[in-house]
Amino acid sequence: MLRALSLVLLFALACGDDDTPADASLADASLDATADAPDAPREYEPEPFEPTGATRAYCPRDADAIEARITEALRSLTIEEKVALMHGARVGLTDGVWLVRGNERFGFPGLRMLDGPRGLSAMSGKTGTAFPVAMLRGATWDPELERRVGAAIAREHRSAGADVVLAPTINVLRHPRWGRAQETYSEDVHHLGAMGVAFIEGVQSEDLLASVKHYAANSIEDTRHEVDVQIDERTLREVYLPHFRRAVQDARVASVMSAYNSINGAWADQNEPLLRDILKGEWGFQGFVESDWIWGTHGSATSVRAGLDLEMPSRVAFRPLIGEVRSGALEERYLDDAVRRIVRAQLCYGLDERTPSEDPSARETEAHRALAREVARRGIVLLRNEEVDGVAALPLAAGASIALVGLGDVPNIGDDGSSSVRARHVVTALEGLSAVATVTDLGRSLEEDEHGALLAADAVVAVVGLVAEDEGEATIGAGDRATLAMPEAHVALVRALASLHERVIVIVEGGAAVLVEDFEAEVEAILWAGYPGQAGGHAIADVLFGAHAPSGRLPFSWPRREADLPPFDNTSAVVTYDFLHGYRHLDHHGAAARYPFGFGRSYATFAYANLRVTGTLDAGAMLEVEVDVTNEGETAAVETVQLYVSALGSAVPRAPRDLRAFAQVELAGGATETVRLRVEADELRYWDVGASAWVLEPIDYELAVGRDAADLRLRVTLSAP
Ligand code: BGC
Repeated sequence: MLRALSLVLLFALACGDDDTPADASLADASLDATADAPDAPREYEPEPFEPTGATRAYCPRDADAIEARITEALRSLTIEEKVALMHGARVGLTDGVWLVRGNERFGFPGLRMLDGPRGLSAMSGKTGTAFPVAMLRGATWDPELERRVGAAIAREHRSAGADVVLAPTINVLRHPRWGRAQETYSEDVHHLGAMGVAFIEGVQSEDLLASVKHYAANSIEDTRHEVDVQIDERTLREVYLPHFRRAVQDARVASVMSAYNSINGAWADQNEPLLRDILKGEWGFQGFVESDWIWGTHGSATSVRAGLDLEMPSRVAFRPLIGEVRSGALEERYLDDAVRRIVRAQLCYGLDERTPSEDPSARETEAHRALAREVARRGIVLLRNEEVDGVAALPLAAGASIALVGLGDVPNIGDDGSSSVRARHVVTALEGLSAVATVTDLGRSLEEDEHGALLAADAVVAVVGLVAEDEGEATIGAGDRATLAMPEAHVALVRALASLHERVIVIVEGGAAVLVEDFEAEVEAILWAGYPGQAGGHAIADVLFGAHAPSGRLPFSWPRREADLPPFDNTSAVVTYDFLHGYRHLDHHGAAARYPFGFGRSYATFAYANLRVTGTLDAGAMLEVEVDVTNEGETAAVETVQLYVSALGSAVPRAPRDLRAFAQVELAGGATETVRLRVEADELRYWDVGASAWVLEPIDYELAVGRDAADLRLRVTLSAP
C-alpha cells in the first residue's frame, strides 16, 4: 500500500513541477549527476570483444567501428563513469523525457525515453495523436498497418525530443480482467509475435529505438509489484516467451524492459535464466535491458549479474554498485557488458549524430489522424448482425436517423496509466455519427419523456462498456477489472432500449471481452470498438453506414461466462500460470465461446476452396499453404484467413489447436483470389523439458483453415518425418 501511494506521488511528480520535493528516500537520487572525468588515465584492459553476426544484425550502422569505439572507451572510463551510464537521471522527467545521461568525454549522447503503446505519452506534457489502443489494432490482424502505426508514433516521439519508444507491450492476455489488456495485442502467442514485430520494425525504421515490454509473464496489475508467477518450463517456453524471441530475432528490437513481477521465485530484473541465459544467451540479444520504473530494480550486483543493464528512472537500487565493483563483489566486466549494450544502442541508432529537437508540427498531422481513423475502422469487430424485416440491421441506409444513448459523448480513448495520450481533439461517437447522419443525443440514460424521440429514429445506437475508471494500469490507473460483467446500468439501459425499438445497435467499448449474455439475444447488432482513439467516432460512423465493411477479428476469446476461463487471481502473492488460457482453454474444456477467438462478421460472406500445401515438415522448413477465397457478397471487404494446427497423437499434452499463420485479402464483391499462408515447421515443436530442447515430433499434424478458431472450413493432414 505504502509502495502504491509513493508511486502515485512519484508519477504526480514526474508529470508536474520538477522542483516539487520527492519522496525523501528517493530525492537525493535525482541529484545524481554524470561522474567527473578522471584526473589520470586508467590502466585497465576490458575483456576482448569480437562482433558477431548478431551484433552486426542488431546495428543499422557500422557495427565494427562502433564496437571498437566502445572498447576504446571501456579502457579509460572510470567505474563511476560506467555506473553513471547505467541509470536514469532522476525520478521525474527532464525536459519532457525520461533521461539517461551520456558521457561527454566520449561523445555518448545518452537516451531520451517516452511511453508508448498508443502514441506520444501524456507525461511529456505535449499532445499527440491518440491511436486506437493496441488491442483494437490487434483486431486488424494487419501487421503492415501496425508497422505504419509504429513509424507514425516514432515520428511523434522524435518530434518531442525522444529517441526511445517504451513500447510495444506484448504480454499475453491471459485473462480479460487484466487491467492492461488494452495495451497488448492478443491472447495468442503467434498473433502477438506478428503484431509486436511489425510495431518494432515501424519504430526502428524511423531510426528510433523500440523497447519491448514487460519481460516476462506480466499479466496481472493489482499485484504486479509483489506477485511471484510460477510457470513450468514448457509453459514458459511455449506460451510466455516465443513472441519476445521474435521481437529479438525477427525485429532486432533495440531494448527490452523487464517486468515488475518475479517468475519462479526470481524477480524479473534478477532472473538470470530469463535475462542472461535465454534472452542474451540463446537468443543472442545485443541490446540493453532496462528495469520497469521505480520499483522494478531489486538489487545492484545481483541484478547486473543476472543481466539487467539499466536502472530506471534513477539510481536507487544501483547505489551500492560502485562500491561492489571496487570491493570485488562484482567484476568490472559486468559493467563493461552493460555499458557496451547501452552505448551500442545509442550509437547504432545514430543518436550521437543528431540533436533532440521539438517540432509540434509533426504531431497530430492530417496523415496521422487519417491513419488513426483507418486503423480504428479496420479493427472494429462486428459481433452480431440480425435481420430486421428480412434485411441485416447493418449497414444503416444513407440518411437513416439515429438516437444515441450511453457513452456516445465520452472521449473514451483508454486508461490513465503510462500509455495515456493527450490529443488536441477526440472525435466521439456523437461527433462522428453527427457528421454523416441526423443524431438525437439522449445522453447517458433513457428518460421516459425521451421515448418518442427514440421511436422516431430509424436506429438506436447504444455505446456501453468500460471507461478509464473501470480498468487500466495499477497505481496510476484503475488496475484490474473487478468483474467481466457489463456494468449493471448498461445492461438495464440496453434491455430497455431493446424492449422499445426494433433496431438496437450496441457498441461495446473496453480493453477486451465484457459479458453480453444479459442482452445479446434481444438486440439486433453488437460491435466491439475497444478504445478507438481520437478518430474513433468517425471510424464507428464509417462502419455503421458501410463506408467500410467491418473487417476486425477478435484477438481474444469472448466467453459466455467468467467461469469458462481459467481463474484470475489478482490478490495472492503467488500465482500459477498454466499451459492453457483463451481459446486453447475453451477448446480443451469443450466450452463454446460467445464469440470465438478470431471471430468477426462482415457485410460480405466468404467461401473457401482448394486448400493446397507444398513443402514438408522437416525441421527448419517452411510450408506454403494456398486457399481460394471468394467474396460471395456485393460489398468489397477484407477477409482474414486463419490457419490452426493440431498435433495428432502427441506424446505430450497439447492444446487442441494453435494459430500458426494468418493472411489477409481485400476482395471486391464476387471476386476470388488465392490467399497464401506460410507455416514454419519449427512452430509445431514442443519444448522437451528433459532434453532442454525443441522437438518436432514425427507424428501427423492437421492444418485447418477458416475464418476463426471455431469456423474451420478446410483441413489437410501432414506427417512430419
Ligand atoms: C509501466 C511501464 C512504463 C513505465 C514508464 C511503468 O509503470 O509499467 O510500462 O513504460 O512505467 O512510464
